[in-house]
Amino acid sequence: MAARPSTSRSPAVPDLKTGYDLASVLPTTAEVRGSRLFIGGVDMVELAHAAGTALYVMDEATIRRQLRDYVKWTTYHWPDVDVVYAGKAFMSLAMCRLVAEEGCCLDVSSGGELAFARRAGFPMERIYVHGNNKTGLELAECLDAGVGRVVVDSFEEMERLSALAAARGVRQAILIRVTPGIEADTHSFIQTGAEDSKFGFGMNEGLAMSAVERAIELPGLDFEGLHMHIGSQIFALKSFSAAIERMVAFMREIRTRTGTDVRLLDTGGGLGIKYGLPDEPSTIKDYGKVIVDGIKEECEKHDLPVPRMAVEPGRSVVANAGITLYSVGTIKEIPEIRTYVAVDGGMSDNIRTSLYDAHYEALVANKADRPREMVATIAGKHCESGDIVVSDAPLQVPDVGDIVCVCATGAYCQSMSSNYNKQVRPGVVFVGDGTWRWVVRRETYDDLMKCEVG
Ligand code: LLP
Repeated sequence: MAARPSTSRSPAVPDLKTGYDLASVLPTTAEVRGSRLFIGGVDMVELAHAAGTALYVMDEATIRRQLRDYVKWTTYHWPDVDVVYAGKAFMSLAMCRLVAEEGCCLDVSSGGELAFARRAGFPMERIYVHGNNKTGLELAECLDAGVGRVVVDSFEEMERLSALAAARGVRQAILIRVTPGIEADTHSFIQTGAEDSKFGFGMNEGLAMSAVERAIELPGLDFEGLHMHIGSQIFALKSFSAAIERMVAFMREIRTRTGTDVRLLDTGGGLGIKYGLPDEPSTIKDYGKVIVDGIKEECEKHDLPVPRMAVEPGRSVVANAGITLYSVGTIKEIPEIRTYVAVDGGMSDNIRTSLYDAHYEALVANKADRPREMVATIAGKHCESGDIVVSDAPLQVPDVGDIVCVCATGAYCQSMSSNYNKQVRPGVVFVGDGTWRWVVRRETYDDLMKCEVG
């Protein structure tokens, strides 16, 4: 592989079809050398041949840069902000270790995610625990592990957690999850802040206030503050500002009514990312300002002390760091209608297209220097017509055996993958500095049968 200074960037991946530069949806280290796509200094075509396809590839430098940007642009405005990576977007032991190395906190939303964090040696005091129906067993696991905070989502959970904590002679720090009644501008399936939501306590009927009052009373709980999460893939920062206004007004009410100050305000995740070339998400820099300055200004308005803050990004940390590599198996041209390019994966490794009508950009990794001069539909290999990876994708003219790269698949693809049709899940490799390593190996048929007892 030709040596190149690591700062050298593409010839921007050419894209005559749309006139845009594909590099904007790819990891920061993406470049074209000769006819091939390189990420992290690694030839994606060689990698596909060496590691096999389908394959998730994550660029470590991009993940670290995103986390560092979050830390930088939040603490720039206020020193006391936790950046809490939302593990549901993508979690593996290596990812937990990377998050720990970057000094960030980790959001887990199940006993399984907590088990990963523990196995990775993640510092338990930096764990935030989520979930709208944590089981008694999960709550006990949290206490036994000594997690930093539990984000409480219901009255039942509060009682259960307090009883379990009291029995252990501890007081568990908690946040109360509040639904601020904001409908974020995103797909309805991933809106969570509206009044009609299975998550959190609504403000309007006084539920959130009752929850806070009860949390203050309960002997096993230390009421530390409030949490909100209004949704995901949000472009308009004004949704966050509107929610923050309501949350801080609620903090004022809590003080007036109970004399207690909110010491921590967690505004959740949700910053949108660029999937399609026309997408124009906000930057982490602008997001940090809107969140942190927004909280500071509202606190000043209500004459409240500025609390410690937390943000919980998931997608925007990993989405553009990841791609999926597939091999083209068949090409079916339906005259006058469309061309289907079928790859060796599909809805089992990326359910987002069928579930949310998500759109991705794609390119042929071994023809990366050519324009994307046709439009094709990249289909999976599953027994469903809806098994589409990318509909109507501008693409270089493909041949059987070519390596297709689908961009921005680092979030909610591997973590939502399945074994439909008994498909083995792809492995995950991390790339950087011209080398690659498995962080999750590809499954085998034996893995598929490991729980069978009959
Ligand atoms: N905090 C909480 C409490 C959450 O529920 C979530 C995401 C996050 C943080 C991280 O949000 P992010 O920064 O990733 O937007 N499967 C869907 C996304 C579901 C998001 C669920 N909660 C998708 O593939 O688009």
